[in-house]
Amino acid sequence: MMLLDIPPLAFSGSGLHFSHRLLDWSDLEQVLAFRRDIFADIAPHFRVRIPPVDDVLTDELKWCDKHLRLPGVTIGVFDDNRLIAYASVLLSVGKGVTDVSQLLGFNEQDLQRSAELSSCMVDKHFRGLGLQASLLRWRIELATKHERSLFIGMTACGNSYSLGNMLGTGMTIRWVGQIAPDRWFQGLMLDTQSHSQVCWSDTLSADWQDFAAQFELLGRGYEGVSIDFLEGVLNPEQYRIRFSKREASNT
Ligand SMILES: CC(C)(COP(=O)(O)OP(=O)(O)OC[C@H]1O[C@@H](n2cnc3c(N)ncnc32)[C@H](O)[C@@H]1OP(=O)(O)O)[C@@H](O)C(=O)NCCC(=O)NCCS
Repeated sequence: MMLLDIPPLAFSGSGLHFSHRLLDWSDLEQVLAFRRDIFADIAPHFRVRIPPVDDVLTDELKWCDKHLRLPGVTIGVFDDNRLIAYASVLLSVGKGVTDVSQLLGFNEQDLQRSAELSSCMVDKHFRGLGLQASLLRWRIELATKHERSLFIGMTACGNSYSLGNMLGTGMTIRWVGQIAPDRWFQGLMLDTQSHSQVCWSDTLSADWQDFAAQFELLGRGYEGVSIDFLEGVLNPEQYRIRFSKREASNT
């Protein structure tokens, strides 16, 4: 049985008084209710899956089975006793045709050292406090402790906060496409084994909604590396994504 080595979780915002602990099957009701509330506010094109109404509970139970038990690890953040955020990492990643590992073209060796930063939700009253950013760092640290060095994840195109936070960890956009009609997603990856130092060159940019341009740049070996807000002002509707080429490094 896998023994979990759990790193400490530090919140980046000062004065944050939240508590945290790993979630397990005994938290099922609270997790189901939390996800239901968040989904009620998420636009359909931001969702990975939208099960038919009759299948919602079955689909959610499947999600919990995958994420509240090893090799899934989910941490919950609490304000007093109220769950206000969670984040999940899968220490063993899926190999299905729609799994991000397959979209990124992983082979067996890649899969063995991969961890998927599979889900994060923050209660709308606690957003913008740096919780997702802290929880991303924590999940990478936890998976690193368990010999994972290839980190992958997906975000819906247009989810600028999530994309900015993922790029902030050093992940880069490696894939863009539709996972279902009109649901465009980006696949991101960070390989901590192959590069200790990366040099980027030849920077170009594409509008966040110009998926054809992003696809074309990725096909030419560019990676999406950062967000460029118009005139430096954070506007989730108006931004471009910078794409650069990775230069061979001798480190
Ligand atoms: C996406 C989501 C997880 C972000 O969580 P969060 O804890 O609010 O994110 P953070 O506070 O770590 O970072 C958000 C960034 O946007 C900025 N921001 C500004 N206003 C914000 C707002 N109203 N809400 C969120 N972020 C805001 C933050 O300052 C931060 O930028 P910075 O790093 O330059 O300071 C949260 O909005 C959410 O749960 N959304 C619904 C579910 C979802 O989309 N999950 C992600 C799937 S990949």
